[in-house]
Amino acid sequence: MKKIIISNFKMNTTPSEMKTYSMALATKTSESKNQIIVCPPFTHLSVAKQFLDGSKICLGAQNVSDAEKGAYTGEISASMLKDLGVEYVIVGHSERRSKFKETDRLVNRKIKTALSCGLKVILCIGEDLATRDAKQAGAFVKKQLDDALKGIYENELEGVIIAYEPIWAIGTGKTAQVKDIQKMVELIRKEIGYLYSEKSGEQINVVYGGSIDIKNYKKIISLPCLNGALIGGASLNVDNFAVIARENY
Ligand code: 13P
Repeated sequence: MKKIIISNFKMNTTPSEMKTYSMALATKTSESKNQIIVCPPFTHLSVAKQFLDGSKICLGAQNVSDAEKGAYTGEISASMLKDLGVEYVIVGHSERRSKFKETDRLVNRKIKTALSCGLKVILCIGEDLATRDAKQAGAFVKKQLDDALKGIYENELEGVIIAYEPIWAIGTGKTAQVKDIQKMVELIRKEIGYLYSEKSGEQINVVYGGSIDIKNYKKIISLPCLNGALIGGASLNVDNFAVIARENY
């Protein structure tokens, strides 16, 4: 089954390193049937574009401004990314929500701006440990979805990938249990079904992220309910990421 394999470098590596990484990844995954999306920092995007050219690997950014243009020093707009050849953008990553105080409303505005510029969105949602322990994970994730997708039309969902990333699993070496991933993905599809239609719930792309590595990737990404994975730390090693990206699931 064809899967979507996404890397998130976070704030790691340099633009010079991106050159060798891109060339190596393109070579090592040339036979892959999966859709590979690489999301390096903004400063690496031009280099990545240049050295991924001719491969089927897509480029994504890790963030985007909710504003279209203007007096927003230090921000990067959707049209700037689009012009560089970027196709995807990660929105609502838990690190943006917690460390940069991004709210559900801001996430919603970012999605609208990105989609209206023709970018596709990787929308991150997921609960923290206290919420999970309080048995509120389902309700929390549902609300994040409802708020993020407010005013987004059903036909725009084609351009949205939902990334379920439980916060307690990010960078901790603790992945969610397979049965918990299945349960949450089912809940996400049901909520999309409730907000839009059953068909959209079935068709929306849902990926999992949180401590996926070279040892555990197969049993998680192979889950039929999942369309793929969003990988942080393990994507920094091009050999490991290439193995995960070219697997036949
Ligand atoms: P890790 O794979 O390092 O846990 O990071 C997951 C993540 O946050 C990807 O967006």
